[in-house]
Amino acid sequence: MNNYDIKKDFHILKDITYLDSGATTQKPVQVINAIKNYYENNNANPHRGAYKLSIKATDVYDEARKKVSQFINARQTNEIVFTRNATESLNLIAYSYGMNNIKKGDTILLSIMEHHSNLVPWQNVCKKNGAKLEYMYVNNEGLLYEEDICKKIVPGVKVVGITQVSNVLGTINPVKEIVKRAHQVGAIVVVDASQSVPHMKVNVQDLDADFLVFSGHKMLAPLGIGVLYGKRELLNKLSPFLFGGDMIEYVYEQETTYAEVPTKFEAGTQNVEGAIGLSAAIDYLNNIGMNDVQKMEEEILEYAMSKLLKLDFITVYGPKDLSKHAGVISFNVNGVHPHDVASILDSNNVCIRSGNHCAQPLLRYMGLDSTCRASFYIYNTKEDVDKLIESLNKTRKVFEKWMK
Ligand code: ALA
Repeated sequence: MNNYDIKKDFHILKDITYLDSGATTQKPVQVINAIKNYYENNNANPHRGAYKLSIKATDVYDEARKKVSQFINARQTNEIVFTRNATESLNLIAYSYGMNNIKKGDTILLSIMEHHSNLVPWQNVCKKNGAKLEYMYVNNEGLLYEEDICKKIVPGVKVVGITQVSNVLGTINPVKEIVKRAHQVGAIVVVDASQSVPHMKVNVQDLDADFLVFSGHKMLAPLGIGVLYGKRELLNKLSPFLFGGDMIEYVYEQETTYAEVPTKFEAGTQNVEGAIGLSAAIDYLNNIGMNDVQKMEEEILEYAMSKLLKLDFITVYGPKDLSKHAGVISFNVNGVHPHDVASILDSNNVCIRSGNHCAQPLLRYMGLDSTCRASFYIYNTKEDVDKLIESLNKTRKVFEKWMK
């Protein structure tokens, strides 16, 4: 399959050039049909009824969990917890692990390129528990560097939070090496894989990540379904994050015992539709093959970079070495605010994101206030990149007299 064939499955892409898959991806007809089929044939509340339809709903929900666990090569299906999104998964870890295990004098270490969702919850833990919050910084290409990594991952660090791919710069971080070093000093590692799982093969056992999170909506699935992977022994030790129905074993007037993981973390009626959509999205990606998914994106990235770097009125950020760069490009049109650029592009039906991309500390560290961001996925073609370039040239014409 090539990206021209793939695009036909995304009816919404008929008239638009969609370059904001880092924010959320579009959904193929196969995912939409899987959800429709669920509601037409299998809908009931799983784990709640003794009747056939509820058992069917339970089966499809459990099947989706198995699909996710195989997709990231978890050891066991019950190492997968369904959440609303990566943000909720990260909050769960910060509350259930961080609040109970991090104490005064401990250090939580993050990369400066973390999305706010892998930063603000840890800030809260540090404030409440009296721990220190430190950062690994980047060089001027947006790459973490070994000297700083070695200097920062030292005894006393109890949690390392690291994004596998930066949602701003597209930087691919050396997560496996960071995990190895962190484990040597007794720290656990929380990997934000929101921008990597949709785009490359991610193997949690090979990474040896303690926790790893991602969102379904960034990988062709519906909004509102997220994943928390955790090593079984760690999940077993965590206290629940949300309390209520289904997450219990026995409830007495004054005491409650909890269900086994992952049910212990899935209080209330779950987003079964989302899990079904995620399962169909994984089927769609597996049908292409994650190696080919990555290859297609590398080709588009290379093409886009070569075109953008020829525009003398544009500044491009992020790693020059494209083997360390995923399909996310941040850039600025010199002298023009990113929101103005995005508006002109929108008038050409080109969708990009502009702003601080929920990563204010990174932008501040780089001396920036905001950027334009084009992010790619399997349905993007070279013509989409050409449209972006054509629209940027149009922007230049509009703003020429104000440009530096
Ligand atoms: N985290 C999403 C992004 O990077 C919303 O755009």
